[in-house]
Formats: sequence, C-alpha cells, structure tokens
Amino acid sequence: MWCAIWGAECLRAMKPGAFLLAFGSPRTHHRLAAGLEDAGLEIRDTLVWLHSRGISKSRRYPGGRATTLKPAIEPIVVARAPLDGTTEETIRRHGTGALNAEACRVEGRHPADAVASHDERCSEEACVADCAVALLDAAAAGGENGVGVQLPPSRFLYCTKPSRAERDAGCERFPEHPFNLLPSTKTSGPTRNPHPTLKPIELMRWLVRLASPEGGLVLDPFTGSGTTGVAAALEGRRFCGIEIDEGYLRIAAARIEHWTKVGRKEEAACSRARPGAPARGSVRRPTGSRRRR
Ligand SMILES: C[S@@+](CC[C@H](N)C(=O)[O-])C[C@H]1O[C@@H](n2cnc3c(N)ncnc32)[C@H](O)[C@@H]1O
Repeated sequence: MWCAIWGAECLRAMKPGAFLLAFGSPRTHHRLAAGLEDAGLEIRDTLVWLHSRGISKSRRYPGGRATTLKPAIEPIVVARAPLDGTTEETIRRHGTGALNAEACRVEGRHPADAVASHDERCSEEACVADCAVALLDAAAAGGENGVGVQLPPSRFLYCTKPSRAERDAGCERFPEHPFNLLPSTKTSGPTRNPHPTLKPIELMRWLVRLASPEGGLVLDPFTGSGTTGVAAALEGRRFCGIEIDEGYLRIAAARIEHWTKVGRKEEAACSRARPGAPARGSVRRPTGSRRRR
C-alpha cells in the first residue's frame, strides 16, 4: 500500500516513458514491485546489486540453525511510466522511454542487469575471500573458489564500495559520529556522514546515466545523504531531492555542493586537455581506481 502511495506521487511528476528505479530488500522487494505496478507503472526489469556487505540478522538456534541467510544482494526494481504512443514516439516527444544502454556499456559490452561491489575489507591490491567480485572472477577462471562455470565477469559493472573519504567528502563542517556497521573491521570508526545505507557514487552514476536523459531532471523522494544528487550533478542532470530527516538533508546538500564543484573542476581540466571533448560524463570514478580484477 505504502509503495503504491509514493509510487503514484512519483508517477504524477514523471514524464511519459520516464524510468523509476527503486532499491528493495530480498525479503520485501516483491511488495515494492507490486505497489509500483498498482500505482500505474510498468515493471520492466529487476537489477541485482551484489555486494556481500550484509550482516546476518538471524538468531542462532540449536543445531546450527538460522531463520535467515546473510544478505548479499539488493534488488533494484526498474519501472517505467506509461508511454506516449510507441517507444519511438515517446523518445521523439519527451526524450524518455528507453534506457541509455550505449552510455552504460561495461567493458564494451551491452549492460547486464547485475552490478557487483567489492567487500568493505578489500584493498586496492587484493580482495578478501568472500568478496563478490573475487567470487565472480574465481568462477570465471574456474579457480578454487569457483563453481566451475565459465561466466564472463566483464558483463557486470564492478564498483568500489564507498570509502570513508567518499562518505565524508563535503561534510567537513559537521560533527563526527561513531559508525560501526562492521565492528570487527578496521573500516569502522567515526564519520561525519553516519547514513547507514549510503550508496556508492559510482553505482548511482551508472544508474542515473542508464535511466535518465542527458540534461534531464532526476527526482529522489528518499534522498538520505544525497548520493543520487551527487551522481546527477556529476552526470549533468538536474536534481530534486526529498528527505524527511533534516540532519541527512543538510549532509545531502553539502555533499551535492562538494561534488558539483569537483565535477566542474574535472570538466574544466578535461576540456583544457582535449578542447571540444564532451565534458559531461567524462568525469569518471571519483572514488579512485578499480581494485584487482
Ligand atoms: C535508503 S535511504 C537513502 C540513502 C541514500 N541513497 C544515500 O546514499 O544516502 C532512505 C531515506 O529515506 C528517508 N525517508 C524515509 N521515509 C521518508 C518519507 N516519508 N519522506 C521522505 N524521506 C523519507 C529516510 O530518512 C532515509 O534517509
């Protein structure tokens, strides 16, 4: 019911053929999809974000039993507002209706509906054993962690986890909070952006580029600490955010301001280096290079 209510409000603001991407949880994403469908949107796909960072919330029972598994995926429901005529007519009239597959190619290939993130504990040099990316690579190589299936991992977008620097950039004027999503690792510690479900900028940039037209207006009705707005700024889209928590709203505004400046500087540097080069979308990977592949 809740998803149908906010879905209908989004649909009211969307252009015909515009896309809505909504992160869900493995346990409840079917309700999310049903709610969006009830609101009048058309379900087009479900992306899977494989991150291996979830923490099992199961209680332990005698005999090593558990009621839930460790969550390692987050489904992303891909829905579309009704078209205005055919897809071709909607593209021509509104610039919406289709995904920007070409702009989102991964290693030169048509994008797949799966994205993988490194584990919190991976370093630039090496992945930890249960990192989603390491497991995919091992599977492709038929290595000892693999299941012997020849998967081409280049079909998937690999993105870095948000580092502490990425989480806090632009938030220097805010106080530090304790942050212990994974108390056993050295990654825990104080942060100025304590949002518990912060998304990686690289992932959000790819999704913004995929689902919205260049120069389009991106709406995030659950803005949190503003990663969608950061991605929109870096991809040359306008942004409108809604957030119920004033503290997160201030953090979101500061992060978007910071990354907008970073984007402008890098864009200027790009066009100085290559006069006439397309500036938007050329500012890649704000979080640094990829880890071992
Ligand atoms: C999953 S988080 C978004 C995280 C964000 N993508 C980021 O990277 O920081 C969802 C946010 O929705 C906000 N929220 C929940 N209910 C809301 C409502 N009714 N109106 C506006 N915001 C709401 C929560 O405070 C939370 O910050």
